[in-house]
Amino acid sequence: MRINGQHYRTIWLAPDGWRVCVIDQTRLPFRFETVTLSSAEAAAEAIRSMIVRGAPLIGATAAYGVALAMRADPSDTALDEALTLLGATRPTAVNLRWALGRMGRVLKPLDPGRRAEMAYSEAALICDEDVALCRSIGEHGLGVIRSIAAEKAEGATVNILTHCNAGWLATVDWGTALAPIYLAHDAGIPVHVWVDETRPRNQGAALTAYELGAHGVPHTVIADNAGGHLMQHGEVDMVIVGTDRTTATGDVANKIGTYLKALAAHDNGVPFYVALPSPTIDWSLSDGLREIPIEERSAREVTHLSGLAEDGEVRSIRVVAPGSNAANPAFDVTPARLVTGLITERGVCEASAAGLAGLFPERAGRP
Ligand code: MRU
Repeated sequence: MRINGQHYRTIWLAPDGWRVCVIDQTRLPFRFETVTLSSAEAAAEAIRSMIVRGAPLIGATAAYGVALAMRADPSDTALDEALTLLGATRPTAVNLRWALGRMGRVLKPLDPGRRAEMAYSEAALICDEDVALCRSIGEHGLGVIRSIAAEKAEGATVNILTHCNAGWLATVDWGTALAPIYLAHDAGIPVHVWVDETRPRNQGAALTAYELGAHGVPHTVIADNAGGHLMQHGEVDMVIVGTDRTTATGDVANKIGTYLKALAAHDNGVPFYVALPSPTIDWSLSDGLREIPIEERSAREVTHLSGLAEDGEVRSIRVVAPGSNAANPAFDVTPARLVTGLITERGVCEASAAGLAGLFPERAGRP
């Protein structure tokens, strides 16, 4: 993504070749600031505090966290401790467990003296692969957008609703749900995006709107509750969302509120697509509702709003009556039956065990 005339991935190595730079997403859209991570603890804290977030980027940051740990101490104990520390940061996005499992499998058999170098190159590989996977998702999703555009009057705008942020900022580059939108826009297909997740984290309002704006894609931010109304009035041609974990049977965990969008889409005959790279598939699970762990985050994200005050400082204010309790489940699960199709790096499939097995025969039935 180009920001201020410069191309940025969301994670890269500092000029010293070992520290890890990320964009501080808690400051967006008001300030574009980077943070330099120099230890596994700092990487874990960046994930926990959502300086970085989004399933693929969480995985990439965790991989570099292991590399930072190996540079400090490549012993077996330090490796186990880093894997445990980073693995405990956030529960729902399976890319975290996937990336740490991969790092462990590569590093454990090695002589400790070789671990740091190998950890950096494996983390870099995970990042490069993520960029390629997202680009392929974009190409397959572009085909879906093209076919929806073909059903409309010549030159008519395709209105796409997306929930939360599954764009460049949630991945290493391109994004998952937003990659097809970027490619469609670049290909000259008139697209307009309805952007939500305006509570509790404002990731649509703050992050998706920011990056769509940076790429020049027309978009409109709506309150989370507006999606159903727009669908009833024919203002939404399709929904594309990302996912933090998808089961082998096609149930989709994504940012809280996704399920309600899927219900509204189903009721109104609006196609509901989920874009995901294969590391987001949890092949060990078959019942998303019962088996996917849902993170419960701080009640303060519900009781308070934060934004740019008139004095130019980012401040938070309380919007809930003092004394009221607040609950904050961060994700929900959309059952496969409500999903029109999964857009993966290998193509588009039905959200079902058979659909995923058709695209990934080598993984099906093998957790
Ligand atoms: O809690 P987050 O911000 O880490 O959640 C992840 C997300 O941004 C979304 O759920 C996203 O739609 C899927 S990740 C590509």
